[in-house]
Amino acid sequence: MTTLKVKKGLPLSQKTPCLVVGIVEGRYKVPVVQELDQALEGAVSRAFREKEFSGVQRETLLLHPGKRLAAERVLLVGLGKERKVNAERVRQALGVAVGFIQNRKLTSAVLDVSSFLWRGADLAAVGQALAEGVLLSTYRFDRYRTENGKELPPLLTECALLVARGTEVKACEEGVATGQSICRGVTFARDLVNEPGNVKSPDFLASQARTMAEENGLKCTIMGQDELAAQGFGAMLGVAQGSVREPRLIVLEHNGGGDAHPIALVGKGVVFDAGGISLKPAEKMDEMKMDMAGGAAVLGTLLAAARLKLPINLVGIVPAVENLPSGSAIRPGDILTSLSGRTIEVLNTDAEGRLILADALAYAKRFEPRLVIDLATLTGACIIALGHHASAVLGNHEGLVRKLLQAGEASGERLWQLPLWDDYAAQLKSDVADIKNIGGRPAGTITAAAFLGKFASGLKWAHLDIAGTAWEDKGRPCLPKGGTGFGVRLLVNYLQQAVPA
Ligand code: BES
Ligand code: MN
Ligand code: ZN
Repeated sequence: MTTLKVKKGLPLSQKTPCLVVGIVEGRYKVPVVQELDQALEGAVSRAFREKEFSGVQRETLLLHPGKRLAAERVLLVGLGKERKVNAERVRQALGVAVGFIQNRKLTSAVLDVSSFLWRGADLAAVGQALAEGVLLSTYRFDRYRTENGKELPPLLTECALLVARGTEVKACEEGVATGQSICRGVTFARDLVNEPGNVKSPDFLASQARTMAEENGLKCTIMGQDELAAQGFGAMLGVAQGSVREPRLIVLEHNGGGDAHPIALVGKGVVFDAGGISLKPAEKMDEMKMDMAGGAAVLGTLLAAARLKLPINLVGIVPAVENLPSGSAIRPGDILTSLSGRTIEVLNTDAEGRLILADALAYAKRFEPRLVIDLATLTGACIIALGHHASAVLGNHEGLVRKLLQAGEASGERLWQLPLWDDYAAQLKSDVADIKNIGGRPAGTITAAAFLGKFASGLKWAHLDIAGTAWEDKGRPCLPKGGTGFGVRLLVNYLQQAVPA
């Protein structure tokens, strides 16, 4: 991870390859910018006058001060309209700035903290947003690049956050530390999602979770094939039986809230989803290594929660399986008996996520959780509905959904609610079992959630469908190509607001 440090000093005397300054749209007559403008003999105001740069969101202007400043470059980055500046805008601006800096192979920079302050923000909030912006954009999965590794541009390795007064250092440092803890969780999740299917067996996920748990003071319990069979995880085992790689149920616990009932987080952990006998088409099938992104987000969130010492009890449950076609795989038409006792008619083996989650939700009840949130790359229909800019949220408790929507806005990991009216459940009626695992073409994301809802009965529960947000195809500010770690920042934000009951 990029090293971040907070220091006191004056922007104009910083000796650095690049000094980064945030600019609110149209507002160059603020003290830092005025000082810069003077030192640069009017270069900034000229750029504004000639409409080369106005501070629109994500806009950049690079200046070369020559001998006039200690900094070799000054990078102005736009924050957009003043009343719209918030933590997310600042993260985005940093994402743009870091991309710019790294494209030019610069490895260290100084950020002028005060220029990124927004209305109502304190220094901790700005420090956190800046840290997140930097750490999310300097991520790279290069573990398997040996020969062409040298051609990769260097990453920004060192970044200083500059504050004006000594008294501001501590608050800013606190925010930076929070951002670092959260980004550790995000990075952990991204690494797992990016890991290829051949490496990433259910057992690999389990051992990664165990090592992480040991390093961070989390309790870790792993259940293997025999124990799952003995306990009656029939739906999960049904999905797993097509692969030679045995399933694992990963359970992590964070105890920061005494003897209070825990919040349970459940994440889909399909390490590779070929669809089973209902085989997927070849195109983009490789991306189905990301089908454990919900599970990765749960593990990353527990990591962050432990580092942040959140004053709550948390349990993370990740059913890890592989969904492959083979002579031992389940067939369309098979009937599985789930952990809850409910029988499920499997009409499409590619609707496997809801099967493993059915058992995981039933298992979650043993912890008597005060609420349960599950995350899953569950339906292609969710991508059709929301694209790649929001995840779907559905649940049986409006208060919980509302708080998650708010956490989504605050964290920049946005959610959009879909309805979960009883009417949809009719699509899941089976002729031969208690329920079937597909509800037809209409409202695929909702019927999948309705299926889960049956197994979450009696729980205060919400479901996040992250099929469209777990993987980034092209690369965006703060979201390098590949696994995004979606959910970690959202959940941490939600958990930070949770009353320590
Ligand atoms: N893992 C997929 C959903 C998915 C698709 C996630 C694309 C990310 C990108 C899931 O297991 C699946 O295959 N769902 C089926 C359900 C259908 C058979 C009812 C789908 O969406 O096609
Ligand atoms: Mn599938
Ligand atoms: Zn799947």
